[in-house]
Amino acid sequence: MKISGHTKVAGIFGDPVEQTLSPAIHNAAFEALGLEIVYVPFRVEPNGLKEATASIKALNMLGMSITIPHKEKILKFLSTVDLHAKEIGAVNTVVNRDGKLIGYNTDGMGYLLSLREDTGFTPKGKNIIIIGAGGASRSIFYYILSGRPKSVVLANRTVKRAQALAKEFRPKFNVEITAVQLEQELLRPYAQNADLLVNATSLGMMGRGKVEAPLDSLPPHAVVSDIVYRPLKTGLLKKAESRGLKTHTGLGMLVHQGAIAFELWTGEKAPVEVMKKAALRALRLQ
Ligand SMILES: NC(=O)c1ccc[n+]([C@@H]2O[C@H](COP(=O)([O-])OP(=O)(O)OC[C@H]3O[C@@H](n4cnc5c(N)ncnc54)[C@H](OP(=O)(O)O)[C@@H]3O)[C@@H](O)[C@H]2O)c1
Repeated sequence: MKISGHTKVAGIFGDPVEQTLSPAIHNAAFEALGLEIVYVPFRVEPNGLKEATASIKALNMLGMSITIPHKEKILKFLSTVDLHAKEIGAVNTVVNRDGKLIGYNTDGMGYLLSLREDTGFTPKGKNIIIIGAGGASRSIFYYILSGRPKSVVLANRTVKRAQALAKEFRPKFNVEITAVQLEQELLRPYAQNADLLVNATSLGMMGRGKVEAPLDSLPPHAVVSDIVYRPLKTGLLKKAESRGLKTHTGLGMLVHQGAIAFELWTGEKAPVEVMKKAALRALRLQ
């Protein structure tokens, strides 16, 4: 990697940040396009977020990825927030445009791009079940609703969280939205007509916990998707595969949300295949 007086800096703010695959993905992409940019992880504690955000401008950095636990709290420190990120209530990408810090959320769009690339699925007119109502789910739910599905069922362990999110998004979209407790038997009637079932919780991450979903009630054409990418093939996806259902892993979302950020920072088309290979390599090395 060449570092000179012209080198630009981008990176990621998170706490913890050690587990991130983003440096591997972005540095591979900058190198592939011969761009003199370096991407660095920064562990930023919650009480240091304001100063860290100001430093993006002070140090003339290109931009920053934002991860747990800063995605919501960073909004108030930015000059402008893109309309979609504002409605989602979370930012995962900051762009430093001539000293103005602009916030975007690329998670949900990255998810939809990857889902279409891997399975051909688009939300329009479809019945969809989303499990989870945390940060990642908010962005996925928002972009799925923007794709004009017929109905969305949002299931969460803490049902109040799903109900609050459904209430918040209902006035924005002309879609039938139902919030339910995450319980296999409560989901079963919805599964019978579902075209897509997505796990957007951390269940199954590093093999911890299990998503209780009525896969046996899904129609044969249904797609089962998991945003967890450690392991790449989660218990949920293995079970879906054994039932002959089409599956979608979390790797593509990781790559595509990063690819959109890359394009916002550089104005260049992201080398998605290079980024995908780098992510896979980094996953195997961890
Ligand atoms: N592929 C990608 O690019 C990508 C991007 C972002 C995130 N992710 C992954 O997505 C997962 C969720 O991230 P997040 O940022 O949304 O986290 P988060 O905001 O902390 O939300 C966690 C979600 O998981 C649920 N959950 C956690 N433990 C549970 C359990 N034991 N039983 C039932 N539900 C449980 C929570 O339910 P409650 O509301 O009841 O607590 C909530 O819905 C993580 O594994 C993360 O690595 C992947």
